[in-house]
Amino acid sequence: MDRMAKSLKEKLKIIRFLPKDAKTVLDVGCADGSVTIAMAELFPWINFLGVDLNEAFIDKAKENSKHLKNINFEKVYLRELLTREAYYDAIVFLLGVARILHIWRRAVLGFKSFG
Ligand SMILES: C[S@@+](CC[C@H](N)C(=O)[O-])C[C@H]1O[C@@H](n2cnc3c(N)ncnc32)[C@H](O)[C@@H]1O
Repeated sequence: MDRMAKSLKEKLKIIRFLPKDAKTVLDVGCADGSVTIAMAELFPWINFLGVDLNEAFIDKAKENSKHLKNINFEKVYLRELLTREAYYDAIVFLLGVARILHIWRRAVLGFKSFG
């Protein structure tokens, strides 16, 4: 198994958290859609929406998922998405450790500035 495949397998451990009766799943920050596509192949009865702010990633994800009917990709910022009235049975948010640490640091600094 090459490095990419191993990384994808690790990321796919997320599927254990999907509700058994889920019909719609949102993948925020889906990048090139590798994880979203793998999930859509595993669960053809679930409709997936993958979103990312990077247009090149979204174009690639669309190209790589042409064989699937249960998946859509959209270039959109998370904050824009949050203004929509939409419902998803589950939301996947897979980030790298560095990104999580960055968000955590900013949150801690934000709280500190409020005293
Ligand atoms: C570390 S990558 C994770 C990729 C994918 N979830 C995975 O595990 O393979 C984070 C992705 O989130 C996207 N992203 C970051 N901030 C975002 C935002 N505010 N709205 C939408 N996408 C965002 C980036 O463009 C990037 O592709």
